[in-house]
Amino acid sequence: MTSAEGKPSIMNSSFDLSFGISDVWTFVKHHRPAMYLQMILPKSIYRFCLYSAYLFWFIVGLLVLRKTANATNAVIYVKTHGHTVGLDTIENSPRFKDLLETLDREFTKPPAFLLLNQHALNMTFNFLCNTQTLPGVHERLIFVTLDEKTRDVLGEHWPHIRQFYWPTPSLYKPFSFAEGPYQTIYLLRANLAVGLLKHGISFWMMQQDTFWRKNLFDLKFEENEQFDVLFDQIGDDQNSQRAEWVNGANFFVHANNKTLEFFEAVASKLSHWYTPDMGIMIHQCHTWGTLNCSYIPHKIAHSWEWMYTAQKNPPHIIQLDCETDGGSKLMQLAKFGFYFTESDGRTCNPAAVNLARQRMENGTIEVTRARLSWGRFQFKMYWWLVDYILMIPYMGPFLKPYLPLVGYILMITM
Ligand SMILES: *[C@@H]1O[C@H](CO)[C@@H](O)[C@H](O)[C@H]1NC(C)=O
Ligand SMILES: *[C@@H]1O[C@H](CO)[C@@H](O)[C@H](O)[C@H]1NC(C)=O
Ligand SMILES: *[C@@H]1O[C@H](CO)[C@@H](O)[C@H](O)[C@H]1NC(C)=O
Ligand SMILES: *[C@@H]1O[C@H](CO)[C@@H](O)[C@H](O)[C@H]1NC(C)=O
Repeated sequence: MTSAEGKPSIMNSSFDLSFGISDVWTFVKHHRPAMYLQMILPKSIYRFCLYSAYLFWFIVGLLVLRKTANATNAVIYVKTHGHTVGLDTIENSPRFKDLLETLDREFTKPPAFLLLNQHALNMTFNFLCNTQTLPGVHERLIFVTLDEKTRDVLGEHWPHIRQFYWPTPSLYKPFSFAEGPYQTIYLLRANLAVGLLKHGISFWMMQQDTFWRKNLFDLKFEENEQFDVLFDQIGDDQNSQRAEWVNGANFFVHANNKTLEFFEAVASKLSHWYTPDMGIMIHQCHTWGTLNCSYIPHKIAHSWEWMYTAQKNPPHIIQLDCETDGGSKLMQLAKFGFYFTESDGRTCNPAAVNLARQRMENGTIEVTRARLSWGRFQFKMYWWLVDYILMIPYMGPFLKPYLPLVGYILMITM
């Protein structure tokens, strides 16, 4: 009865659908936007529009090809060199056994690992100068040094700083965001995490491109057993669309079976997929539901975005990941006042550290002096775009755990 009265039967509805599509097609054929443009625009302007459109799609096509080539190369690079940073290789090496012994013997608090090759030496010296007056920081750092020069130069200037020497030829050269070596170093980090967790070692992972205004270790996050992993997050504050998205530069992991499983999955995905490690961690934190991912409040850990806010509530630490290219990063930071060595790049300049602290506390870091670089411009643009995507009702919250997984692909100009 009801079907005969109002609702169309299945047959009817499929007829309607096919009719609808061909109708739309006929409409589109006869009402292409270009036809209207041709009618209303003078001929020369119309031609200009047409050629601009061709050029636009040509460039998009080139970018897609370039992106495809980059992605393929990165995955091949990781597949070729992944074994040198593999879990088996780490676990079976005498160096790792030494590391475990050192941790057992000399550490009463969780260690903090930082990775570097010789191209990050300057940044590392900067960081060491920044943190040298904060009690108990240097004692907890372990630098994973990836080449001989790094080991020797660091050891020469900072003999008491601990190192885990892990020579990795595939990581000798300078490299940039989203390239094969970039993925490989994150694979190393994930595998090192798995190796440590298997031995019940809780740890911090940290990055040298972070300015410490105050001592993060004083906050004793390690003693809070409520969470499993404590991540830094991106976005401006807790109301930001991107809040609770893992930044992944500075984070703390409690050793347990849940976090072991978490990092095993990160490592396995990193070795097969062209996806940012932070994307994997965001996805797992937001969809697994097995472990408690917590986030360091923005008032304590922030990113370079803080400098572009009103500079209120200076955070304890600020991660200055504002460049895609490691080489020019330190020079960029120097313009903001975060350069803490003398001109030799080695001797510390404590006055510069104090000045940077005061500027942060007074909210007077000058951001206008540093020209907006192409790298930072692109990041700003993508964050802006992502914020709008996440604001879409229903769709935004639904996409939130998945969007970062395709981050590399979506950032088509990078
Ligand atoms: C996760 O950890 C935080 C502390 O960092 C705590 O406030 C929260 O209640 C925990 N959530 C669950 C589900 O245990
Ligand atoms: C963790 O896993 C190991 C091996 O599967 C098991 O022996 C151990 O009891 C587990 N620990 C906890 C706390 O679940
Ligand atoms: C590191 O700093 C030294 C001294 O300022 C400089 O000569 C060298 O070029 C820098 N290296 C890199 C990779 O930026
Ligand atoms: C920061 O403010 C204090 C107190 O107002 C002032 O003494 C100091 O010179 C300021 N420092 C900088 C770098 O602006």
